Amino acid sequence: MLKVVAEDIGAFYHHYPRTAAIVTVSYEGRRNAMAVAWHCPISFNPPLYGIAIAPKRFSYNMICGAGQFAVNFMPLDSAETIAAVGGSSGGLSDKFSLFNLQDAPAIKTEAPILKESYAAYECMVFDKRIYGDHAWIIGSIVAVHTDGEVFSADGTLDLNLLQPALYLGAETYCAVDQSTTRVLDRQKYGGG
Ligand SMILES: Cc1cc2nc3c(=O)[nH]c(=O)nc-3n(C[C@H](O)[C@H](O)[C@H](O)COP(=O)(O)O)c2cc1C
Repeated sequence: MLKVVAEDIGAFYHHYPRTAAIVTVSYEGRRNAMAVAWHCPISFNPPLYGIAIAPKRFSYNMICGAGQFAVNFMPLDSAETIAAVGGSSGGLSDKFSLFNLQDAPAIKTEAPILKESYAAYECMVFDKRIYGDHAWIIGSIVAVHTDGEVFSADGTLDLNLLQPALYLGAETYCAVDQSTTRVLDRQKYGGG
């Protein structure tokens, strides 16, 4: 299956698909939102979540200044919103009014919680370090917002009720096909 070997790394899109989320921040009376595909959990206890933000993004200085941010997990129906906030700079326009973004109150931070999201983490900046052309910003999750109706009893998304926005790279978004899901007990498969 593996046929091509290259030392020219290029844009290395091979780790996609990833869920596309929107990071929001509020700082000095201004709100901003940007698309992020590079984000992931770091720790259960304490609950930590990481986002990779290029320092050239307008959001970067806002997040550093505010010391807090929110990660908003978006449905596929909001792909246009993701593309909009990912294709514009908060330095040039107020994306909340330009794209008519509606937010619900946060409880522990000032970061806007997008009403379009199906889940959101309010985070306080826990650590930050620059790696290459991105900063890895780790947030301590201080509050979780969820649309309880779209999650099953085991905590997984019910794909019949909500399709998360998956990003393939190259401006391409797609859905998860519910018919492909398989429940595989790791104890059984791993031999205990
Ligand atoms: C789907 C998608 C995913 C993106 N992922 C990231 C990311 O993980 N990190 C990043 O720094 N920029 C990412 N971007 C680019 C920023 O969202 C984009 O540069 C945005 O305009 C920054 O807004 P700002 O300048 O107002 O902060 C992504 C863009 C899109 C469309």
